[in-house]
Amino acid sequence: MKALVYQGPGEKVWTEKDKPGIEKPTDVIVKVTKTTICGTDLHILKGDVPAVTPGRTLGHEGVGIVEAVGSAVQNFKPGDAVLMSCVTSCGKCANCKRQLYAHCSDGGWILGHKIDGTQAEYVRIPHGDNSLYPIPAGADEEALVMLSDIMPTGLEIGVQYGNVKPGDTIAIIGAGPVGMSVLLTAQFYSPGRIIMVDMDPARLELAKEFGATDTIHVGSEDAIAKIMEMTGGLGVDVAIEAVGVPATFDICQKIVSAGGNIANVGVHGTSVELHIEDLWIKNINISMGLVSTNTTPMLLKTLGTGKVNPGRLVTHRFKLDEIIEAYEVFGNAAREKAMKIILTA
Ligand SMILES: NC(=O)c1ccc[n+]([C@@H]2O[C@H](COP(=O)([O-])OP(=O)(O)OC[C@H]3O[C@@H](n4cnc5c(N)ncnc54)[C@H](O)[C@@H]3O)[C@@H](O)[C@H]2O)c1
Ligand SMILES: [Zn+2]
Ligand SMILES: [Zn+2]
Repeated sequence: MKALVYQGPGEKVWTEKDKPGIEKPTDVIVKVTKTTICGTDLHILKGDVPAVTPGRTLGHEGVGIVEAVGSAVQNFKPGDAVLMSCVTSCGKCANCKRQLYAHCSDGGWILGHKIDGTQAEYVRIPHGDNSLYPIPAGADEEALVMLSDIMPTGLEIGVQYGNVKPGDTIAIIGAGPVGMSVLLTAQFYSPGRIIMVDMDPARLELAKEFGATDTIHVGSEDAIAKIMEMTGGLGVDVAIEAVGVPATFDICQKIVSAGGNIANVGVHGTSVELHIEDLWIKNINISMGLVSTNTTPMLLKTLGTGKVNPGRLVTHRFKLDEIIEAYEVFGNAAREKAMKIILTA
């Protein structure tokens, strides 16, 4: 089969690789039908994630058809259409029992990280019963790919950890696929005002179409001063960081109101300066973490009833064997006006 293989920082190749087989009774082999590229894959290619070693197939999102199942798999059989979660979970360990699948003792985020991932013709999914979801009949498969990672990430780590409530004023820093997923899922809770902050004017325009009430262009405007002015000096109820650099975390700690929440979603590679000397008196909460994808069943319901349509995030489409070209487009997202890319086998 063919797979997109990491070969060390800056190096990747679409090449021939052995087709995966069942290694444990709980494994499921999936023939990938649609996958995508994540900002995290770009971090890996920059060498920011050293746990990914040369030879690893990348990718942790996608849908497909079950090809084979191990002897202990009960929920799936060959031919079933499935959604693959970016997080693998056994469903039985102490952390899985409290739905903290991100910290499964035999899983977590391993796909395209510690084991071969979904940017390939076939992928082995450990603990298939708990890590795969049946695809409802007639579902939009492109929209479903957004449920592997970015939509649960936005909902769990941004909106739920941030405790977004009806009427709240919230600010989302970063209008990439993850920030956009925060924007879409925050609206389940009816915040009154949603301020989107980014340096890409095209992404801010899209954010308005997706429900942002206000946008701030970093570069031509001072985000902190503007938000304080917009909120009468109070700041926002929830500040959501969806970039992963010190400058954007700093915006969040300067705009959070008394009693508010800072929800950090971004993956950080360096330390940030925490201004506890200003924050200690403000009765705020700061949260952060890795997505567990425990909200996937809820998101499947909202997709099924048309309550949310994450398929709108797809801007570009390629064949799976054009993946090198797709990486070129996704890696130059501002120039290409790209948000999310669908690769179809
Ligand atoms: N916590 C988790 O479980 C989890 C899961 C998935 C992704 N992530 C992380 O979420 C973050 C966002 O992911 P993404 O795919 O949307 O990334 P992305 O790179 O596509 O988007 C980031 C956005 O931030 C904007 N930006 C960059 N610097 C900025 C600045 N100084 N001020 C304002 N805007 C700025 C960019 O223009 C871009 O639109 C990444 O760090 C990613 O690794 C976290
Ligand atoms: Zn991802
Ligand atoms: Zn577990």
